[in-house]
Amino acid sequence: MTIFTKMSRVIAVLALGLFAVIAQPQAAQAQDIINPTAESVTEDALMEALNGDAQVQGRVSIPDDLSSGLIKPANRGWADTHGGPVRTVNLIAVVGMIVLLVAFYAIRGKIRIDSGPSSERIQRFSATERFAHWLMAVSFIVLALTGLNLVFGRAVILPVFGEGVFGTLSAWGKVAHNYMGFAFMLGLILSFVYWIAHNIPDKVDMHWLSKGGGLFVKGVHPPAKKFNAGQKGIFWSVTLGGAALSFTGVMLLFPELAGGEAGWQLYQVIHGVVAAILTAIVIAHIYIGSVGMEGAYDAMGSGEVDLNWAKEHHSLWVEEVQGKSSDGTGDGSSRPGTQPAE
Ligand code: HEM
Repeated sequence: MTIFTKMSRVIAVLALGLFAVIAQPQAAQAQDIINPTAESVTEDALMEALNGDAQVQGRVSIPDDLSSGLIKPANRGWADTHGGPVRTVNLIAVVGMIVLLVAFYAIRGKIRIDSGPSSERIQRFSATERFAHWLMAVSFIVLALTGLNLVFGRAVILPVFGEGVFGTLSAWGKVAHNYMGFAFMLGLILSFVYWIAHNIPDKVDMHWLSKGGGLFVKGVHPPAKKFNAGQKGIFWSVTLGGAALSFTGVMLLFPELAGGEAGWQLYQVIHGVVAAILTAIVIAHIYIGSVGMEGAYDAMGSGEVDLNWAKEHHSLWVEEVQGKSSDGTGDGSSRPGTQPAE
């Protein structure tokens, strides 16, 4: 053995010794961090923790801290039992309203301008009013469709279009639902400010309601101001329902504000039920504001409506706008079939 061979063996032994000294504490440290036999990671202990009150929190590498909390079996059970009734309310309200409207259209048909279109038009809504309406309307429609996808998508979209379409739709739908809520709130506040003064209930509404708004009998036109009793009903439903949806929606978006699990679960049920009822009401509104009534859409389209349409549906408002004094009948017309005011 040469002197060099001897020296290299000594160096190797020394290096091994040094490595052993450095590596030993690190190995002990690693053992402290990952201990596959530790009680905290055994399945029994985990299930016990999940069933208790405590939140089981892990670690995630994505920025969303909330996703580090494990879903508890009890919460999954709660979602199953409460998801059913919320689905049923949505089904009855939305499908029921569509069936009613189809039946109404079949029986009554499109509500026409009885006296025929005139050559004159009258300004009904300003550009800012229409902006507020469409901001609220478009955002609500996106919210309603993406919300309905959450409730029925798995049963309706998934089997028809498959996992790819349903997955992409739901992922984008969730983002749209979360952000469109704020556009809806802005539209809701603007519409409230513009129209609250015209939506205070008064005695003209009682008469309008007693005549069924003239919706069911051709040629009957009970007098109304800028908004009739039916529209006031839509306004207050949208205002109060929209406020409830906005509040509960914000609570669901920021669960840490909701006051714990019980609060969050309550807000979820309220959100689902109010959304179902308001969606059904809005479907009826969309019907009457578009295909259901001749001349109605123009009010929110160009902002100007046919004068005869306005006289038939909002006679007191036409008198007010044209500066005419009411003769007490409030009808603004002597055509047969029109009704006296009160
Ligand atoms: C395509 C969808 C929609 C159409 C075609 C439509 C049409 C109309 C029309 C024509 C008016 C004016 C009626 C008049 O001259 O008196 C109106 C008013 C109104 N719209 Fe819409 N709308 C739609 C969606 C919505 C949505 C989604 C909401 C609420 C979430 C909404 C809330 C209102 C409210 C509160 C009013 C005032 C009260 C009333 O007239 O009932 N609209 N809409």
